[in-house]
Amino acid sequence: MGATGPDAALPSRLPFEIIRDPRAMRARVEDLRRDGLRIAVVPTMGYLHEGHLSLLRAARARADVVILTIFVNPTQFGPREDLSRYPRDEDGDLAKARPCGVDLAFCPDAAAMYAPGAQTFVEVRELARPLCGEKRPGHFAGVATVVTKLFNLTQPHVAFFGEKDFQQLAVIRRMVRDLDQGVEIVGMPIVREADGLAMSSRNAYLSPDERRDALSLSAGLAAAEAAFRGGERDGAALVAAARAPIAAAASARIDYVELRDADELTPVETVTRPAVMALAVFVGTTRLIDNRVLRP
Ligand code: PAJ
Repeated sequence: MGATGPDAALPSRLPFEIIRDPRAMRARVEDLRRDGLRIAVVPTMGYLHEGHLSLLRAARARADVVILTIFVNPTQFGPREDLSRYPRDEDGDLAKARPCGVDLAFCPDAAAMYAPGAQTFVEVRELARPLCGEKRPGHFAGVATVVTKLFNLTQPHVAFFGEKDFQQLAVIRRMVRDLDQGVEIVGMPIVREADGLAMSSRNAYLSPDERRDALSLSAGLAAAEAAFRGGERDGAALVAAARAPIAAAASARIDYVELRDADELTPVETVTRPAVMALAVFVGTTRLIDNRVLRP
């Protein structure tokens, strides 16, 4: 049931397994690797939606073994953030994930992942400084550290991440390159609700009025895109176009709206190469992010 041979197109599937102990996870995957299997991992914090499932389906198409990780990582939440109320539904998650072809779910608890006295962190510098890095100090060190730990424990050949978290994807790509982690990183497009709202586990927090105001994020990005298509290349004008619908939504408060170089996340005054319009907005008390790449 390896990646080669006459059965390559239809690998016989492993029986589904849930593993909670990090050492058991590592031992299991070492066996799978010894059998010559290609391993994919999809790291998540659970409360799965179609965005997560799109990553799982892509992973299924690209590997022999698909590992889903579900771990609400405490080290990427700030002291005043939503760690304790972050939505959780492990049974529901597994029911959604299994039809997508997941072979193994790794669901550790925080005590098993972070031993008392843990004091080693992975820090990506420039890419992690602006945008969400500036607004959420320590967030990307928490992300880079847990993703490194998840890679160490699941030993993947390939890992899947969403462009919804654009800066996170950039940080992880740079980390893997800089530290020679040897994992292929695949970025997948943002999955949206029919009305344009980017899918997010945090959408569950929104009241009906807030759900309506949350549409101003995708509306702002569409307005910037329309201005760009109309020939606008001035960064400040494009940001103003993106801000207008959000400023008009009663329960929305802008955390940032910025146009940045799509590769280096440096500020962009005039668009001459791909740039990302990135935004974070509090809708009520819920912080939502979204982005769109503008390509000349
Ligand atoms: P989480 O927010 O659960 O997201 C898990 C993965 O799903 C991320 O790669 C994210 O970009 C992707 N994703 C979320 N919403 C998406 C959407 N609407 N369309 C496409 N992909 C989407 O991101 C994290 O967890 C954590 O930071 C993690 C990487 C697991 C580290 O703790």
